[in-house]
Amino acid sequence: MMKQWRCGLRLPAATMTATTVLLLPWGLASAEAEVEEKKVAPVTGEASLPKKSFHPYTQGPKSRDGIGKYYMGREISYVMGHLAAGWLERPEREREEKPSLLMENLELAPDAVVADIGAGSGYFTFMLAEKVPQGRVLAVDIQPEMIDFLKKRSEKEGTKNVETILSTEKDTKLPANAVDGILLVDAYHEFSFPREMLESMYQALKPGGRVFLLEYRAEDPLVPIKPLHKMSQKQAKLEYAASGFRWLETRDFLPRQHFMIFEKPEPKKKAASPGDEGVEKGKTAGGQEGKVDEES
Ligand SMILES: C[S@@+](CC[C@H](N)C(=O)[O-])C[C@H]1O[C@@H](n2cnc3c(N)ncnc32)[C@H](O)[C@@H]1O
Repeated sequence: MMKQWRCGLRLPAATMTATTVLLLPWGLASAEAEVEEKKVAPVTGEASLPKKSFHPYTQGPKSRDGIGKYYMGREISYVMGHLAAGWLERPEREREEKPSLLMENLELAPDAVVADIGAGSGYFTFMLAEKVPQGRVLAVDIQPEMIDFLKKRSEKEGTKNVETILSTEKDTKLPANAVDGILLVDAYHEFSFPREMLESMYQALKPGGRVFLLEYRAEDPLVPIKPLHKMSQKQAKLEYAASGFRWLETRDFLPRQHFMIFEKPEPKKKAASPGDEGVEKGKTAGGQEGKVDEES
């Protein structure tokens, strides 16, 4: 069952128990998860996506903000409850996280179809709607209260290109091969079935479509967010590669978050034939392709 958690902001030191920090479980469950992982070959295309019967999760020590369930050595965090929608909308967010800078750097064609998964109150949904005036934004969340909030705001502001989707913990409910881009801001780390969600996102993206993943930087102790609400680049790359995504680049221009770009690769062409134009590319624009995947 989904438990509600108020927000990822690090509390004053006195209110943080030592166990929250000391029981950081990276080492404890990782060995088992790695063994599990080696049973499955890396995914190279839709045909070889993991079988539904595969159980990629392990149970381990439950830390204060986690659910005691691990994926590839990472403990999954609680889901932020809808009562914290006000925290998502806090005015100081612009100063702390520079969302407008994020929007400037998000390469999406004006007619792109983009999904905001884990949309919450729609803080980014409505910025995206302005970014793709001839396109559509599909705002996806598992909490009906968040979806209501999104619908009301959309009606109030008369936004024409936002559609809401009530999803499940395992399924985005997005149509297949339908979206050019997926934005995930501070949401992926709380997916309780990340493997299934990655599979669902993979299916929803057009070939060449991109995931824009934003997570607080785990490598930076100065980012004042609780550990389970951060992610390292290394961990994100591991999890996305296991589901067939190709890491393109990470741009660290934001004060607190990694901005990571992953791609659903184009299917490999069998043989060049005259007049073969290949598969239509997703409507994301620019970005550097095929950078060497450096360890971070
Ligand atoms: C911390 S909030 C971030 C909201 C928004 N992206 C923002 O930055 O303002 C995370 C959101 O992800 C949603 N969420 C958690 N697990 C999800 C899943 N498996 N699928 C879709 N949404 C999910 C939660 O309901 C919550 O609204």
